[in-house]
Amino acid sequence: MSDTFKTGRADPLAASSLDADAVRAAYRRWAGVYDNVFGAISGPARRAAVAAVNRAPGLNVLEVGVGTGLALPLYRSEKRITGIDLSAEMLDRARIRVREQSLSNVDHLLELDAEDTGFEADRFDIAVAMFVASVVPHPRKLADELRRVVRPGGTILFVNHFAADGGPVWWVERAMAPASRALGWHPDFTIDRLIAPDDATALVTTKMRPFGLFRLVSMVNPA
Ligand SMILES: C[S@@+](CC[C@H](N)C(=O)[O-])C[C@H]1O[C@@H](n2cnc3c(N)ncnc32)[C@H](O)[C@@H]1O
Repeated sequence: MSDTFKTGRADPLAASSLDADAVRAAYRRWAGVYDNVFGAISGPARRAAVAAVNRAPGLNVLEVGVGTGLALPLYRSEKRITGIDLSAEMLDRARIRVREQSLSNVDHLLELDAEDTGFEADRFDIAVAMFVASVVPHPRKLADELRRVVRPGGTILFVNHFAADGGPVWWVERAMAPASRALGWHPDFTIDRLIAPDDATALVTTKMRPFGLFRLVSMVNPA
């Protein structure tokens, strides 16, 4: 089910209250329970995103905000994976998963900031950010950094919950917004905080199960 690029409404009340330290603190708390709390509900969208990675041309994959590594066993063995995350505790879980499941195509798991990775330009064929865009302090910086490190013509994928465009769900999201810092993400996150409304280069968004709660955003990196 594809639909056209549609921006959410800008919400000045929901300006970012998540900085890197707040992210680290939140995911230090979440690390031990993350898979049990979020693994199932996020599973279909994660599988769809990794299937898109597996279909995309090229082998070098950057997964930003790799977390506990729930996606790592899903990549085709030919894909070479570099995972990065701000949270040492989430990465510890990912490393255990790699070791226990002998995931030999995971080349690196690094404690790095997805907004400023330090990788050389055009280093990757594909970048994917699953449930990360509404967590990073500056989503546009994340998008710019992924464009920088992915080669021209490469693939950039985001999976995320984007705020409803009105209706009761939107009110619930707005009500939850002040808890962003404790939650570790912005419930009222709109797509225009990630990608400028006039920057719809080869952009496809697809609603994901369950209930269209998550969207897969797929872009071809402009040359
Ligand atoms: C909701 S979790 C998603 C984890 C994983 N992608 C998944 O699908 O389960 C968000 C992850 O993004 C990480 N994160 C947030 N901001 C980041 C940043 N600026 N750089 C790298 N990782 C970041 C958090 O530490 C956390 O592990």
